[in-house]
Amino acid sequence: MAEVIIAASLLSCDFSRIGEEVRAVENAGADWLHLDVMDGHFVPNITIGPAIVAAVKKVARVPLDVHLMISEPDNNIHQFIDAGADYLTVHRETCGQIDLTLSSIKNLGGKAGIALNPATPAQTILPFIDMLSLILIMTVNPGFGGQDFIPEALEKVDLIREHIRAGEHKPLLSVDGGINSNTALLAKEKGVNVLAAGSHIFKSTNYRTAIQSLR
Ligand code: DX5
Ligand code: ZN
Repeated sequence: MAEVIIAASLLSCDFSRIGEEVRAVENAGADWLHLDVMDGHFVPNITIGPAIVAAVKKVARVPLDVHLMISEPDNNIHQFIDAGADYLTVHRETCGQIDLTLSSIKNLGGKAGIALNPATPAQTILPFIDMLSLILIMTVNPGFGGQDFIPEALEKVDLIREHIRAGEHKPLLSVDGGINSNTALLAKEKGVNVLAAGSHIFKSTNYRTAIQSLR
């Protein structure tokens, strides 16, 4: 199986020591940092905003994978790009004219991604594959870390992969939510390239072993 990218989701880190947590997880082998932005509207929880993304950027040595779980993301895209997002992902469910949203991300120099809730069909993103650097398949309902993986959410990967295979453009395929060593295996069998994992890494006693167990 091809090498996967491990994106450590900071949602489950100790926020009082975020700089140290970033350094620790990078030293333990994380390839990317995944940052979960929640607005208390699209999802019930409220987490971080651009100021924290910018603070993480100051200490990070690896790419920032910023996952916007916010309504009307168009209003804030420039702020997250300015804060240092490398990959900037918006939810399909939040965008009326997603091609315009993706264009603004790209015009500002970001790598654009679309995230799909477990209940959102794959067909809703197929027309936009050529604009994407990342497709984020949610394997839990977004809002909280530490939830159980929803296996049915992986079913849409087949159709998306078929379209990627048939086309010229090759966005990365990511899963997010409930990833541990067992569910990572299921995702890798489907050809997923990026595993976003929070509690499996940050609630472990050894970040390096936890990351290794996902590879
Ligand atoms: C959920 C977030 C995830 C979350 C994953 O809404 O998008 O990135 O942090 O956490 P775990 O790995 O604990 O499911
Ligand atoms: Zn996420």
